[in-house]
Amino acid sequence: FDAVDIIRTKRDRGTLTPEQIDWTIDAYTRGVIADEQMSALNMAILLNGMDRTEISRWTAAMIASGERMDFSSLRTPTGEVKATADKHSTGGVGDKITLPLAPLVAVFGVAVPQLSGRGLGHTGGTLDKLESIPGWQANLSNEHLLNQLQDLGAVICAAGSGLAPADKKLYALRDVTGTVEAIPLIASSIMSKKIAEGTGALVLDVKVGSGAFMKDEAMARELAETMVALGTDAGVKTVALMTDMSTPLGLTAGNAIEVEESVEVLAGGGPADVVELTVKLAEEMLAAAGVHDADPAAALADGRAMDVWKKMISAQGGDPEASLPVARESEVISAEADGVLTQLDALQVGHAAWRLGAGRARKEDPVQAGAGVRLHAKPGDVVRRGQPLMTLLTDTPERFERARQALDGAAVIAPEGSRSSRQLVIDRI
Ligand code: URA
Repeated sequence: FDAVDIIRTKRDRGTLTPEQIDWTIDAYTRGVIADEQMSALNMAILLNGMDRTEISRWTAAMIASGERMDFSSLRTPTGEVKATADKHSTGGVGDKITLPLAPLVAVFGVAVPQLSGRGLGHTGGTLDKLESIPGWQANLSNEHLLNQLQDLGAVICAAGSGLAPADKKLYALRDVTGTVEAIPLIASSIMSKKIAEGTGALVLDVKVGSGAFMKDEAMARELAETMVALGTDAGVKTVALMTDMSTPLGLTAGNAIEVEESVEVLAGGGPADVVELTVKLAEEMLAAAGVHDADPAAALADGRAMDVWKKMISAQGGDPEASLPVARESEVISAEADGVLTQLDALQVGHAAWRLGAGRARKEDPVQAGAGVRLHAKPGDVVRRGQPLMTLLTDTPERFERARQALDGAAVIAPEGSRSSRQLVIDRI
């Protein structure tokens, strides 16, 4: 095979053969195909697409580049193989749902191997959030992971480097060549890791709106359908919810402040949208894992999910009772008029949190545990001129100015009586 021929084929809207795809992924992982050639191929894929057969083979080749995990040794108290279920969100602002969700699903006897990542750009990462808990460790051995899944039913930890190594290399390249936003590449990237992880059931939370990769509904739907097909073909019971990301989830975007909000949800309180989405996703995961008579809302209200959370944090070295880091400096942004807050833009809030130090510009940068944005109003709320709308939090006050710039025009206040409707769950696929 010749890399240039393969690039030309895709450039001229041709279809790659299974053999060409297998060779491309393998040769790129081994360094035989150069980064500049892979960049050109990625751009051709972004512009000209791939058909389902190509995407499926591309995904399989990425899975084959690394190891596969196996949870078949997990047992229920009666000795049967334990069901496993995982959730993946395509990334958003204020999306802390994994934190309450994993322990909640584990309450019902389903094991949740939640292998997670760090944030890059304006979207937060689950591991960055949990690392604000003193002592908590993201890196676990496979043995620890299996023991914790057997004993507690829930683990949130870093994905080992052995899962789909081709994707790691490819994703880093896409990140710096403007080729992240290609549906075949996103779908194969996400699904190769999830299939290699070996979960039995998978619920995808595909975000739609300004704070998501997919800004428009048609593209989000195509991504969701592609991923559901890939999962189903690989024998994973896969469902997708398309959910709103036009405004942040909950009232916090950052790290420690998102953990704090997740703990409120686990204590039976917390913002209504976070509770609603956590319960919806739990119901989907449980149904996909074969549990149909569960009442997740009750397990949040009565403290059963909180019990699993505390054990899960302790088992990874964290102190669930410790106070969380607090940012040294804060600044308030106030409402500029009386009226109804009709919009609070997710992408702009995400950028502000990122600039305040909650996120990173390069993957080796550290994040500030206490940094972020706290919201005091959500779309639909009536506000008064001068009332606090948001509090900016950081340890490094020179960051306030850029965060304020990022938020310019993010809050839209319309005359009283105006409506703001937000449908949290847009569709199910
Ligand atoms: N998340 C991934 O894991 N891969 C992508 O390509 C995009 C989002």
